[in-house]
Amino acid sequence: MSIPAQRVATFGTTIFTEINLLAQQHNALNLGQGKPDFDTPSDIVIHLAQAAQAGRYNQYAPGPGTASLRQAIADHAARFYDLDIDPAAGVIVTAGATEGIFAAILGLVDAGDEVIVIEPFYDSYVPNIIMANAAPVYVPLHPPDWTFDPDELQAAFSRKTRALILNTPQNPSGRVFTRQELELIAGLCIEHDVTVIADEVYEHLVFDHAQHIPIATLPGMFERTVTVSSAGKLFSATGWKIGWVCGPPALIDGVARAHQFVTFAVHHPSQEAIAYALNLPDAYYETFQAMYQEKRQLMLSALDGGGFTYCAPEGTYFVMADYTAIFDGSPLECTRYLIREKGVACIPPETFYSQEHASIGHGYVRFAFCKTDEMLRQVQERMAIG
Ligand SMILES: Cc1ncc(COP(=O)(O)O)c(C=O)c1O
Repeated sequence: MSIPAQRVATFGTTIFTEINLLAQQHNALNLGQGKPDFDTPSDIVIHLAQAAQAGRYNQYAPGPGTASLRQAIADHAARFYDLDIDPAAGVIVTAGATEGIFAAILGLVDAGDEVIVIEPFYDSYVPNIIMANAAPVYVPLHPPDWTFDPDELQAAFSRKTRALILNTPQNPSGRVFTRQELELIAGLCIEHDVTVIADEVYEHLVFDHAQHIPIATLPGMFERTVTVSSAGKLFSATGWKIGWVCGPPALIDGVARAHQFVTFAVHHPSQEAIAYALNLPDAYYETFQAMYQEKRQLMLSALDGGGFTYCAPEGTYFVMADYTAIFDGSPLECTRYLIREKGVACIPPETFYSQEHASIGHGYVRFAFCKTDEMLRQVQERMAIG
């Protein structure tokens, strides 16, 4: 008997565990994991507490999500993207975007199918594809500006391609794909009859002139796209693990079938609070964006002072920084060096790459700037050269 099952035998412990431990030992400022070190807005927390105290939200929620949250998700899509989502049949509330992506793969991809993954990628995609007995096919983004080669993208499509996972704004590169790039992806998906699983958890985190364009809004794409998002990023509430998948009822039906036997239903009181939060006026979204624009500036100044180079992120709260001017070694060695010598932790990007393309990430480490301004100023002081 082989223990563990072959399905999971290749999955290692994530690099985050080692980095967090090392960061603690050296009292380093931890810019590794993408979790805010500041709190969820208090009015949203109050709604959670009130829902829990009201008594009627402490038992199982409806499997697809509460009616109020599904309506709020549909209203949000209409308000920001002019998308027409059916709150009854076009939305599933999941345990974070992580479960949403997994349920989408399980519900829409068959064993033996191929799923195109743009890399560097969020680390759950590939294990999810493997657990569905499907095969990942990789398309790399090329530094320094993290763009894909249209020929490499086209070559990734085959008769077996069933789905493509598209993350924009993209973790870890910080890219926000342009309309032109999205049109290219959309054209190939239509030509090859491929479903898009659009991971848009950073949809409101865009900077300067970048514009987040959901691929579902492109002509011919709504019918073949499920869009995944998360309250974790938007309301600085990663611990609540509330996410959702929305799209055309025909595809959402597949996601719902998987979801009902993965988690069935997710945390009930949090859904009431997130329904309130999604309905907040535009001012909330504008302030949120402005807050991160400031944090990005602090982060980039720290990198400038520390001798790193980078392509300024157009979105997300991550930046891939090129350390080759200040350190000679692998990303993991550089991360250990920064923790020990500078007291600042980041993440080596190995975990975001297939073996096939691991060398593309050499020379880079990822910093997360979802941290207090005070911490980012300390980072600036610690990283300054000379
Ligand atoms: C690109 C991307 N997708 C999905 C997730 C997972 O989101 P959640 O915490 O809602 O499961 C993350 C979290 O970091 C992410 O960066």
